[in-house]
Amino acid sequence: MQASSPRINSERLWGALMQLATIGATPAGGVCRLALSEEDRQAREQLMGWCRQVGCVIEIDAVGNIFARREGRSAGAPVVMSGSHLDTQPNGGRFDGAYGVMAALEVLRVLHEQHITTDHAFELVVWSNEEGTRFAPSMMGSMAFAGLLSERDVLDRKDMQGRRYGDALAAIGQFGQGRSDRLIAAYYEAHIEQGPILERENCTIGVVTGGQGQKWFDLTLNGQAAHAGSTPMAGRRDALLGAARIIDALRKIATRFAPGVATVGELHVTPNSRNVIPGQVMMTIEIRHPRDSVRDQMEGEFRQALGAIASDECLTFSVETKLTQPATVFDTDCVSRVRDAARRLGYRHMDIVSGAAHDAIAIARVAPTAMIFVPCAGGISHDESESATPDDLAAGAEVLLQAVLESCRRI
Ligand code: GLV
Ligand code: MN
Ligand code: MN
Repeated sequence: MQASSPRINSERLWGALMQLATIGATPAGGVCRLALSEEDRQAREQLMGWCRQVGCVIEIDAVGNIFARREGRSAGAPVVMSGSHLDTQPNGGRFDGAYGVMAALEVLRVLHEQHITTDHAFELVVWSNEEGTRFAPSMMGSMAFAGLLSERDVLDRKDMQGRRYGDALAAIGQFGQGRSDRLIAAYYEAHIEQGPILERENCTIGVVTGGQGQKWFDLTLNGQAAHAGSTPMAGRRDALLGAARIIDALRKIATRFAPGVATVGELHVTPNSRNVIPGQVMMTIEIRHPRDSVRDQMEGEFRQALGAIASDECLTFSVETKLTQPATVFDTDCVSRVRDAARRLGYRHMDIVSGAAHDAIAIARVAPTAMIFVPCAGGISHDESESATPDDLAAGAEVLLQAVLESCRRI
């Protein structure tokens, strides 16, 4: 690393993260900022204000992705991009998504204050609805950008209350007209690891070489609601009992296919009353594995178990596939730039495959992409207790800055 190499300002980065975390702050120290909520609007406005302060021109596309552009010397050259998401889980933490956006903002601030002129333009991007909590699936904004979902499909998705994505987007004033067809020279996303590996290996930087694939399903089980007191145990058609058996079967399947994972995160029980046998259950199921062929085998076993359990419990069912995302291998040049920067900066680093999904995984389909991970305490994420140290977050941003500068120089 040359002595004159620009460095990030770690206090400023931490300050921006903490300020952002006040928007949707929960009493337990986390953040609830669901996609296209009032809190999401406030976070977007805050971010756009910060970007304007460093001279960026803002564009919002038709699905609500935000692009804050800092021009480069070569007007027509493909852009170098970095960002992540501002939406969170219902009981989310302060760093998932927000870190990648604030790290990109810190890069913009360094470029601005040091009057650095780059060959390629640099854009900070906020991908809309990464979490997929309110509107499924996840990564909607980045998938639309990558052509994996149509704009119409995104705008027509509904939340559990039946509210259209397009209407919610318009209600928060984020329905844009901007172009979403940029050519990208390189895309980098900084993120907390959301798992325990970096902490366990005492590494500051994860050089992310790709991400595991996943499939999401909505399963509806139909039985017969009936009186809890007067209906004998024999002959009941209890949809929740079927759901419980499916949850157990999924755990056994995932354990057999380790490092595969399977999760039931939502149960919607009807009528959800103490003294009525549950007549219907809608449950979400997700299955992940680093190898698509093994994930497909896991799905096959899940469907077999589902058939057997439904028949045992006299239930009918329907399965809707909400997301199919293949395993991803990131661009070797971008990955090398991240690895080289970590090495030059003297950070302990290791190659790692992402267990979580990220916007970068969608963008990798249309642009050279890599990610930078930093540790999070106990590997906990998607929870209010999510935590990361200012030093580790600063290290990730330093690596991001170097990778961006390298990419911005190459026409
Ligand atoms: C995104 O957070 C995911 O991995 O589901
Ligand atoms: Mn995230
Ligand atoms: Mn997340």
